[in-house]
Amino acid sequence: MVIVDKPQLKEIEKKGFYDVEVDPSLDLFEEIEKLKREKNAIILAHYYQDSDIQDIADFVGDSLGLAQQAAKTNANIILFAGVHFMAETAKILCPNKKVILPDLNAGCSLSDSAPAPLFAEFKKKYPEHKVITYVNCSAALKTMSDVIVTSKNAVQIVNSYPKDQPLIFAPDKNLGAYINQLTGRNMVLWNGACMVHEIFNHKKIADLLSDHPDAELIAHPECEASVLSLSKYIGSTYGLLEYTKKSITNKFIVATEPGILHQMQKSSPNKIFIPAPTNHACACNNCPHMKLNTLEKVYICLKYEVPELLLDSETIQKALVPIQRMLDISAQLGL
Ligand code: 13P
Ligand code: SF4
Repeated sequence: MVIVDKPQLKEIEKKGFYDVEVDPSLDLFEEIEKLKREKNAIILAHYYQDSDIQDIADFVGDSLGLAQQAAKTNANIILFAGVHFMAETAKILCPNKKVILPDLNAGCSLSDSAPAPLFAEFKKKYPEHKVITYVNCSAALKTMSDVIVTSKNAVQIVNSYPKDQPLIFAPDKNLGAYINQLTGRNMVLWNGACMVHEIFNHKKIADLLSDHPDAELIAHPECEASVLSLSKYIGSTYGLLEYTKKSITNKFIVATEPGILHQMQKSSPNKIFIPAPTNHACACNNCPHMKLNTLEKVYICLKYEVPELLLDSETIQKALVPIQRMLDISAQLGL
């Protein structure tokens, strides 16, 4: 049993995470399940979370799937095991529910690469352009957007605009360039990128592919064009997972955050998954933001319902418009 007193709770709220000891003899899986039932809470987890968090989650998915689940849940509390912008999206979709995040400091380098005041200035230079924004951005950026997209629906949503409509795409330049290539558009791109997907090494991947001629490279579209050019399949985390299930290939080099390998291995236990090599000497390429969440933090967060994700009502109202537009278009497209 963990006892957290009032001053400690205040401390968690201030710091954004727990640092109280959790009794190592506690069965956290059992405790978390009990708390979920007692509080009518659900856990939504992204594929980049640690495998134990994925295993205790009610739903594991990509950004679109997680937003869709948040929009339709009847739970009173959403524990979002992901990063800050994802929890914000859940709060915008469910302003009357309590949204909690195991560590409020779980940010995103891609989201940080587009500070809202700078983006507002940038947008002024393109008064005729519609703003298409990747979901990996702050709520403030969403309020300045016409529509939000994820890596699963971006191409279709861009194509829903007339060819002669000028567009801005933010914040990911790699995803933006990939969509420009697929759609034949010339969207103006914000110069942002994800620290995890930018550091895959083209030469090492090419060498690995020649060492494993029976393997296919599959990649997330946040990777650079040189890596995408070697890939057999490019898609969102959900898309990558589905591809590995359906493909007749038995060996994959996976160019995205390695948390996804847990579900790949679970669904295809006889297939081989190799994390794509990076510029670093170290083999792993974990997202340091995603990995701030731990099972202990999930437990404390659910037990004491802190830290809570809060947003002002004006931001919620304005950011909801482009998010809802994305969900409506996705539903029409059957995504
Ligand atoms: P998806 O899961 O939507 O593909 O996004 C990947 C990602 O980088 C999330 O931070
Ligand atoms: Fe952000 Fe990249 Fe981490 Fe996703 S993987 S949360 S885009 S830093």
